[in-house]
Amino acid sequence: MSIPTVSTSRPALRDIVTLQAHILQQQARYPGATGTFSWILSAVSICAKMIASQVRRARLEDVLGAAGAANVQGEQQQKLDVIANEILLRMLGGREGVAIVASEENEEPVILRRQDDGETRYCVLFDPLDGSSNLDICGSVGTIFSILRKREDSTRPEDSLLQPGLEQVAAGYVLYGSSTVMMLTIGNGVDMFVLDPAIGAFVRVAQGLRIPDTNKCYSLNEGNRLSLPEGYQRYLQWAQSNGYSSRYVGAMVGDVHRILLQGGVFMYPPTKKAPKGKLRLMYEANPMAMLIEQAGGKALVAPGERILEVQPEGIHQRCCVVLGSSAEVDAVMAQVAAAT
Ligand code: AHG
Ligand code: MN
Ligand code: MN
Repeated sequence: MSIPTVSTSRPALRDIVTLQAHILQQQARYPGATGTFSWILSAVSICAKMIASQVRRARLEDVLGAAGAANVQGEQQQKLDVIANEILLRMLGGREGVAIVASEENEEPVILRRQDDGETRYCVLFDPLDGSSNLDICGSVGTIFSILRKREDSTRPEDSLLQPGLEQVAAGYVLYGSSTVMMLTIGNGVDMFVLDPAIGAFVRVAQGLRIPDTNKCYSLNEGNRLSLPEGYQRYLQWAQSNGYSSRYVGAMVGDVHRILLQGGVFMYPPTKKAPKGKLRLMYEANPMAMLIEQAGGKALVAPGERILEVQPEGIHQRCCVVLGSSAEVDAVMAQVAAAT
């Protein structure tokens, strides 16, 4: 009997590009760049490694379970929500180029630097741990981040945060799954990195990633079906009559990652319980919409209305989210438009 063999090919050493090298390569494309922005991305990458190491020690250390408090949205905070939030606040707070940070877990944004000395500074918004209810079952969780340039014309520093997603300078997420993966866009496509635990560095594994135009797969919490607006119920009926599959991780990072790689559509429409939608515009919908659009897909709140064009009114505002392969988003919106 012959034993099947698995062929493993490794990139030649000279072909390995770490996230740090990638950031420096990108910086070199902007001759006037001071490195401030690169330094912020490097802080995000260190946070990702620190959070990954905590997530991977779940049950070995006392990091699971409720922290005992509710966050600003009235949701139970998990211990790891608090740990991840502290890591990001502490690391980003130490970077001179960061003016403001805003987190899902903090009611108010944290103003770090108010001085107006002509230096370009940035606002970083994040969901420290997305899908944290998956922690207890060793399911996928992640960190989502969005970076905006601080506006010099705003009277209150916090007004700098309320810019539409189109103004994002960079966005991405880190998925703590069977491996730790970072997806990043700085506005010129989407690049993918995997954390190599042997060397402690994120290594670039794909550049200019493109989302497949179509895939007969939808992703939503189907338990909400009867409380969805009519158009979404019609879509589900249509999809199920047309051979679609359903996949739902219950953590936006996990679902969006699958869709970026394999295509399909992810949605969280309004429900009776969450009439404006459940997901947060500033640190869930906007960064994911930027990644999806940069990969060639679509991200909408309603027929013809891009997530990235929504003018935010508050940092914790929620919105409807329909994103993924162009053809699949169109198929959802055709039913929504027909029902209105
Ligand atoms: P978070 O853990 O940051 O509060 O986010 C959870 C979000 C999102 O990740 C996921 O897509 C959605 O909530 C799941 O909601 P349901 O449990 O209502 O399906
Ligand atoms: Mn989340
Ligand atoms: Mn969260």
